[in-house]
Amino acid sequence: MAEFTLPANSKVGPGKVFSAPGGAKRVRDFKIYRWDPDSGENPRLDTYGIDLDACGPMVLDALIKIKNEVDGTLTFRRSCREGICGSCAMNIDGTNTLACLKPIEEVKAAISIYPLPHMPVVKDLVPDLTHIYAQYHSIKPWLQTVTPPPPDREQSQSVAEREKLDGLWECILCFCCSTSCPSYWWNGDRYLGPAILLQAYRWIADSRDENTGERLDQLEDPFRLYRCHTIMNCTKTCPKGLNPAKAIAEIKKLMVIRR
Ligand code: SF4
Ligand code: SF4
Ligand code: FES
Repeated sequence: MAEFTLPANSKVGPGKVFSAPGGAKRVRDFKIYRWDPDSGENPRLDTYGIDLDACGPMVLDALIKIKNEVDGTLTFRRSCREGICGSCAMNIDGTNTLACLKPIEEVKAAISIYPLPHMPVVKDLVPDLTHIYAQYHSIKPWLQTVTPPPPDREQSQSVAEREKLDGLWECILCFCCSTSCPSYWWNGDRYLGPAILLQAYRWIADSRDENTGERLDQLEDPFRLYRCHTIMNCTKTCPKGLNPAKAIAEIKKLMVIRR
């Protein structure tokens, strides 16, 4: 049987322990992946005991508290704190999600926190998104038209046409879905993955866009589109309740219709 092990320099070792202040009554341990490329050391798992009576309700509140009050070297991304910017995406208690939308109370024991899986790590909980943003750019995520727009008003859409974008425009590009997709893990160099394909469909489905043919041509490829094997991890994990697997199925349907 094949045996898979991490390279020696990727093995996660035990880390430092920061205990909760004495007298704290509701203590929860946060076990957080730490890796600093400049240190030359292996990654480690640091443990922070947090007094929940002195902390906000979400996992992001605990991370901010740790950074502000316990260990300023902890590195993570965040911005809006309300599930809009997508920057606090990480793996919490084994699931990719947004730290700002994840209540601490949903996890009953110690909370483990890792960066989004199968992405290169810049530092601690910060994944390197260079490649996936290049993939996003490759689908030309903007309106493409040939017909000049009316000189005195916006390009209009009927209510029914606009409704076709519901379930697509809400995507915040957090990449929880792509980094939970086994096909993207193994073929992310060429497979676009659920987040980018949902975005591609967002423009294909837009009644105002006049470049549908070329958009589909660009996706007609054994890797870019057809590495999706309908495993559905993407839809299960999306913290915004979207359905990237359905968007991918819609693109595949259009490919068949136009043959
Ligand atoms: S449905 Fe497709 S995109 Fe979603 S997890 Fe499965 S293989 Fe990946
Ligand atoms: S589809 Fe959902 S999980 Fe995927 S990038 Fe968009 S918001 Fe994030
Ligand atoms: S901080 Fe913006 S989505 Fe969490």
